[in-house]
Amino acid sequence: MNVSVHYQIRGHSGNQIATSIESGIQSGRLHGGERLPTVRALAARLRVSPTTVAAAYNALRVRGLVHGSGRRGTVVNRRPPLLTHAVFPPPAPGLRNLADGGPDPALLPPLRPYLARLDGIPGKYGDAENRPALVELAARQFKSDGIAAESIAVVSGALDAVERVLQAHIRPGDVVAVEDPSYTGVLDLVAALALVTEPVKIDDSGPLAADLNRALKLGAKALIVTPRAQNPSGAALDRKRAAELRHVLAGFPEVVLIEDDHAGPVAGAPAITLSGGRERWATVRSVSKSLGPDLRVSVMAGDATTVARVQGRQSLGPRWVSHILQDLVAAMWADPQTPALLERAAVTYAERRRALIEALAQYGIEARGRSGLNVWVAVAEEAAVVNAMAAKGWAIRAGESYRIKSAAGIRVTISTLKSDDAGGFAADLAESIRPRSRAQSA
Ligand SMILES: Cc1ncc(COP(=O)(O)O)c(C=O)c1O
Repeated sequence: MNVSVHYQIRGHSGNQIATSIESGIQSGRLHGGERLPTVRALAARLRVSPTTVAAAYNALRVRGLVHGSGRRGTVVNRRPPLLTHAVFPPPAPGLRNLADGGPDPALLPPLRPYLARLDGIPGKYGDAENRPALVELAARQFKSDGIAAESIAVVSGALDAVERVLQAHIRPGDVVAVEDPSYTGVLDLVAALALVTEPVKIDDSGPLAADLNRALKLGAKALIVTPRAQNPSGAALDRKRAAELRHVLAGFPEVVLIEDDHAGPVAGAPAITLSGGRERWATVRSVSKSLGPDLRVSVMAGDATTVARVQGRQSLGPRWVSHILQDLVAAMWADPQTPALLERAAVTYAERRRALIEALAQYGIEARGRSGLNVWVAVAEEAAVVNAMAAKGWAIRAGESYRIKSAAGIRVTISTLKSDDAGGFAADLAESIRPRSRAQSA
């Protein structure tokens, strides 16, 4: 986007200029992706020295409100750490929501029986931060997946863990290697922490080893990987790729490895880890997709130092994850009926992915979705396809906010798309990708 001209930045000191820009972002008059004037241009207009403007831009950069500098320009972050307008407003009423990336509520275990089982004794200051029963169950799961579980933290979801691990090890301006395309939440968080992303190419089996090697050689200090249910592509590591990636990572022992297993047992692919033998690592498993996003609970295994830093910092702010929520998750995990429910969800999502991919293939449309809750379709014009699909009653997501350098596409959340509806969706998408008038005149 072009240099912002519709918002008048004001101020004579670095502080005033930074405040003026912040208030433009906060009020929605400066949008994510918008380019700010160059340091020189703004300095000339405000009649201040370039050093003053540079200081203002730097303050905003460190606070995660803008990124970039120099010839590439200073650009407003898409989702700065400020209360602004919603980046992804909910779909218009009446549209089938295949946009939100969440689980099918009908496939989550019902909460009520577990709520009824809570003992009702209020927790208090001084209780152990983590419920031993939850940690014990988490440790058992991690161990059975070949993940070391000597140190475990309980935090508030996968993204919370990613943020806490990054803050434990990484400083503003550091480079972090991320999959491309990647989950917007991760990209926005990394930008808000004033970190610089280095995209790593992926295919259906996850990051490409050679490209990871290139990114790490550039000096990336951390790597964020989604071992399965990659969002938006559905990629999942297989044993061969994992061995290649471990080999590359072995050449960079100081790199912090963060594994975001946000979908866990409903991903529809085995748990594979790159963490074995690493110095600094964390594998976070969230219950958001398997038990429900509103629980805001995840468990994180990691090396002792990383876990100690994460828990230590957490204990100074939020203190702990509510014991009510920890007890609920522990009760759900301990219930002998839960594994069958989770397996049913995993199988249903796999059927829905397959039904959509096959239905699209009937129209010659190639789609990806090896695991997880989303299917990715390469399209040339994302916004046009999203708009055309909205006109036909479907809400889907443009790939733009997931991509760094990778090719355009759309993300379709399949979690509630029953196999019977896949044909209708595919027919509509085929028309939206190749509008009839254009196809006829071609
Ligand atoms: C890759 C990825 N990580 C993290 C999250 C968010 O997980 P949580 O709700 O546990 O923070 C999502 C949500 O869709 C995701 O796709």
